[in-house]
Amino acid sequence: MAENQIKTIGVLTSGGDAPGMNAAIRAVVRRALAQNIAVKGILKGYDGLINDDIVEMTSRDVSNIIQRGGTILYTARCPEMRTPEGVAAAAETCRRNHIDGLVVIGGDGSFAGAQKLANEGINAIGVPGTIDLDIACTDYTIGFDTAINTAMEAIDKIRDTSASHERCSVIEVMGRHGGYIALWCGIANGADDILLPENYDYDEQKLIDRIILNRSRGKTHHIIINAEGIGHSASMAKRIEAATGIETRATILGHMQRGGSPTCKDRFYASLMGAYAVDLLLAGQTKRIVGVKSDNIVDFDINEGLAMQKEISEEQYEIAKTLSYSYGNFHLGAAGNVNPLRQ
Ligand code: ADP
Ligand code: F6P
Repeated sequence: MAENQIKTIGVLTSGGDAPGMNAAIRAVVRRALAQNIAVKGILKGYDGLINDDIVEMTSRDVSNIIQRGGTILYTARCPEMRTPEGVAAAAETCRRNHIDGLVVIGGDGSFAGAQKLANEGINAIGVPGTIDLDIACTDYTIGFDTAINTAMEAIDKIRDTSASHERCSVIEVMGRHGGYIALWCGIANGADDILLPENYDYDEQKLIDRIILNRSRGKTHHIIINAEGIGHSASMAKRIEAATGIETRATILGHMQRGGSPTCKDRFYASLMGAYAVDLLLAGQTKRIVGVKSDNIVDFDINEGLAMQKEISEEQYEIAKTLSYSYGNFHLGAAGNVNPLRQ
């Protein structure tokens, strides 16, 4: 569509909710209204698009939401969107409602839906919204910063009780198939072991050996951050306890990681990316994914963006290992010279 032909923009949130999605919705609505473009909010992601569940958005509708977690538009996993019939129905709803451009806030699954809509002639722009940080073409996704801070605080609390009881703790964090939340929290929480789906060798004996070694060196507790992509934390904890004789507890942090008021960073980038998505549509662009690279807002062709691969940083993982008591070559002070600060 050529520049300035856009009269109405649609916006939806899809997939898992993420703190900061509301800030992105607000930015889309207000950036568009400021340029006399009408905005329609599509409820419950692609479900709402297929079933015509659509509301007119005013500036007032996005007041007092920037600080709220979740998404005021609701979200959903919509299996029907994976079918050609679902995509056709969604595209038809856009046409019937005179939606000239659609902003999809979600993860790479949601972008696959947007890609199909774009192939049906619907102008679609993706804004990355997922706590998982697993979208290759961007350094940042809405919700990741809040989620890692929420998880970090929870892990600190578990460490208090784990240390008091001289236990081993297996703490499972979200991230679907990716280990970004695990790696960031592993480093930020000073974990003894970080298990990532990208590079875990499933050699549990090595893990058990490190726990026993740590205990023999006088370390009284052991924190393992286990990524959801590896999972099975409860059975892992049972095996560790049986093999080491050390009381071991598993905690799955779960959906609390997706909730809560977004951090400043999540509100900031969500606002900028939402506004940028509107600007792209008004400039006649379509089939783009918005992202953040080196602190700048950028955009990629949706096909190219989805084809990119994201690797976990081996360098960061290696550093995490050298900072861990389990891997480092730490020497205890000579007997009789015990540092009272030692834990
Ligand atoms: P996320 O967007 O966070 O990755 P999902 O993978 O659950 O979350 O995708 C969200 C929704 O996007 C799905 O429920 C579905 O409606 C749609 N979607 C996912 N993958 C595809 C696909 N390959 N084709 C069309 N739609 C898809
Ligand atoms: O994509 C976000 C996420 O929270 C993942 O980390 C997790 O695997 C998944 O969604 C959980 O989805 P649901 O809310 O459907 O259980």
